[in-house]
Amino acid sequence: MFLCHWLALVALIPLTLSINPGVKVKLTAKGLEYGRQLGIASIQKKLKTIKVPDISGTQKVPTIGKVRYSLTNLQIVDVGLPESALDLIPGTGVRLSISKAFISLHGNWRVKYFRIIKDSGSFDLKVSDLTITTSIAIKSDETGRPTVNTVDCVAAVGSVSIKFHGGASWLYNLFKAFIDKALRNALEKQVCTLVADAVSDLNPQLKTLNVVAKVDQYAEIEYSMVSSPTVSKDSIELAMKGEFYNIGKHQEPPFSPAAFSLPPETNNMLYIGLSAFTANSAAFVYNTAGALSLYITDDMIPQGSPIRLNTKTFGTFIPQIAKRFPGLMMKLLVRTAKNPIITLEPNNVTVEATCMVTAYAIQSNATLSPLFVLNLEISVSARVFFSGMRLAGAVSLNKMDLTLATSYVGEFQVGALDSIFQMVLKVVVIPKLNIQLAKGYPLPTLGKMKLVNTQLLVLKDYMLIGTDVQFMG
Ligand SMILES: *[C@@H]1O[C@H](CO)[C@@H](O)[C@H](O)[C@H]1NC(C)=O
Ligand SMILES: *[C@@H]1O[C@H](CO)[C@@H](O)[C@H](O)[C@H]1NC(C)=O
Repeated sequence: MFLCHWLALVALIPLTLSINPGVKVKLTAKGLEYGRQLGIASIQKKLKTIKVPDISGTQKVPTIGKVRYSLTNLQIVDVGLPESALDLIPGTGVRLSISKAFISLHGNWRVKYFRIIKDSGSFDLKVSDLTITTSIAIKSDETGRPTVNTVDCVAAVGSVSIKFHGGASWLYNLFKAFIDKALRNALEKQVCTLVADAVSDLNPQLKTLNVVAKVDQYAEIEYSMVSSPTVSKDSIELAMKGEFYNIGKHQEPPFSPAAFSLPPETNNMLYIGLSAFTANSAAFVYNTAGALSLYITDDMIPQGSPIRLNTKTFGTFIPQIAKRFPGLMMKLLVRTAKNPIITLEPNNVTVEATCMVTAYAIQSNATLSPLFVLNLEISVSARVFFSGMRLAGAVSLNKMDLTLATSYVGEFQVGALDSIFQMVLKVVVIPKLNIQLAKGYPLPTLGKMKLVNTQLLVLKDYMLIGTDVQFMG
């Protein structure tokens, strides 16, 4: 009753307020530094596209008179961004400060005066001590992906120096004023626009976040953010749903993520915390989809095994079977009776499953005659590892416990079947499960991201992946 009220209440609260994330991603100062390098390279490229318009006009020059001049074909030769810093602005985003930037340009000059005298040459320009300061807000878009945009930008040109090639010295003074003004105009107008472009160029990259990552025919994982990124004084944290869903039928499991927080580690660029909730939502999906069931037949048992899936083998433990169903092959159906439960403790991933095992004799006309039903409690330990960009696992048996649920062949001692079922689990069920687990589960990724220096720790209630990243292309 209480639960019903509580669920009704929860349904009324907007999702964004009520959901704890199943997965958290933290970008550290080291990650930010990598971001700064990529950002600066991209801004540098953009600044190389600055266009300085041609300048021309007439000007009165003492003792010479009217001079027609033109400055044309101004080309950027080099852009240098030797100093920059990317700082976190808690609650908002980041601030990028570029200082001591320089831009070198080359152009042609031409003059005409005394009506007939023409002169021309080239010049080199250097804009030094350019500073650019821009604030970038980091938010979540309507699809739950991060987005960035510049909220303010200030660019200031320090000094401009010109070196003329050819021409008389008075020309220098004539041009100096025009060039200085034209450059400042052109730069101050374009720099911030170009920086904003470089920043918004990140959005198509951020849009590649796999907010829905397909796993297999049954399941997909949702990695959309459940709230805006949290910017603190030393990291940016993303809170993601991290929930497995049945493809095409999003049914919420009867449990929800518990709050967890990532440790203050900073050695890697990125930390990804995958909660026990994420793993348990997978168990819920596969169990609900009926994917956690397996028919076991004799051909799945290694040739050399003396234990066979027939009424002869089982008859040695349960004589009624040999008597009533002589000389028949058998078949077992193992299926989970409820959601397996995954527990994360330091250095230990445990999965506990309650299964039903139904044993059948296969009649010569292929009819299955049920012999007995057992409850099978299994505890396995899982080893978790990386398989490319996917997280994979392998389990091994800790213990199992058999109890009789129903018998169609009279009373018998279930304990006698222990060794058979240990064998069936070890040589059939667990290897089959491990083939599935080895295929791995996709992690949240952006574009062509490669993980390097990756490590994985199992902590209480979550797994922590610490990694550096490299973006290719
Ligand atoms: C992990 O925990 C389970 C349950 O407490 C235990 O049975 C198992 O032996 C542990 N495994 C390791 C490797 O410590
Ligand atoms: C199949 O054989 C069993 C045992 O001989 C018999 O009880 C059953 O009725 C048969 N079923 C069919 C569909 O023929």
